[in-house]
Amino acid sequence: AVDLHQNKYLDLNSMKELPESYAWTQLEHESSSSISSRKKESVPIIDLRHPDAVALVGRACITWGVFQVINHGIPKGLDQRIEGQVNSLFSLPMQRKLRAARSPDGISGYGVARISCFFQKLMWSEGFTIVGSPLEHARQLWPHGYTEFCDIIGEYDKEMKRLAGRIMWLILGSLGISEKEIRWVGSNRDFAEACAALQLNSYPPCPDPTRAMGLAAHTDSTIFTILHQSNTSGLEVLRGSSGWVAVPPVPRALVINVGDLLQILSNGLYQSVLHRALVNGKHHRLSVAYLYGPPKGAQISPLPKLISPACPPIYRSVTWAEYLQEKAKHFNKALSSVRICA
Ligand code: SIN
Ligand code: FE2
Repeated sequence: AVDLHQNKYLDLNSMKELPESYAWTQLEHESSSSISSRKKESVPIIDLRHPDAVALVGRACITWGVFQVINHGIPKGLDQRIEGQVNSLFSLPMQRKLRAARSPDGISGYGVARISCFFQKLMWSEGFTIVGSPLEHARQLWPHGYTEFCDIIGEYDKEMKRLAGRIMWLILGSLGISEKEIRWVGSNRDFAEACAALQLNSYPPCPDPTRAMGLAAHTDSTIFTILHQSNTSGLEVLRGSSGWVAVPPVPRALVINVGDLLQILSNGLYQSVLHRALVNGKHHRLSVAYLYGPPKGAQISPLPKLISPACPPIYRSVTWAEYLQEKAKHFNKALSSVRICA
């Protein structure tokens, strides 16, 4: 199974039927979006230029744990350029992609979804994780022409970093916290300073989409994630009793979802949202996730301003690295494992 999960899994682009190892039970797909679409509920779309953006973001974090943003200031066309690069990466022959395969204990590089080890069945997707400079892997993928990839990734990363800082301040503002009154404990870095990774995802057209799963239900181990999805639906979020609700692609919009670390920082007020990606019989779907977290060594604990005798902290302090260790042990139950028991 290790090999299967490492890099010997099948080339999805050439499969004419769904192998049993990729066939999820019907149950996994149940409780789909039917109820909520009847109620016409949809994930909030927030115009970042709106004068009440802070309040809108706060409300969306409490009620949904996810929202889309428009007028976010990312240069026009950059979404298409990054998609072009992601497309050309995943279109490379398998042999080439495997040269940049993620090492067994590594984070960056090409491979199956990193959450695969928690599930019996395989997922209908391929991923590529970039932490820091993409140069080394880009050289393995394109020995003679890696600069374009590196340039566009670099530009995207820079823009995401700026946007993430802005969204961080909106979120903190919605919790009643201003820029001046906060610094990371355990790191001398600015609170909105990004420490981040880029996750590129590819979901090839699937011969049996109703039985396959692109990415199984999970929460992100981030403060929040900024997701660009290509023009093919697939992303769903779990919304209490309404079940799974689709997050439709909106041209130029980016999806922001609350991650586990924001749940800790907000002392449970903003809860991380379970989400998954379904696949499509016809269209190739791509997504690019910017995984935004705290600087190395910074302590994540409920923000002091939110704590009072009436409202004691419900989570203990952890660094991002410590939290990732909890996640590796407990997966979707990791937040419970850092909870302070009353
Ligand atoms: C993710 O959860 O990392 C990606 C979801 C998606 O592809 O829409
Ligand atoms: Fe995710």
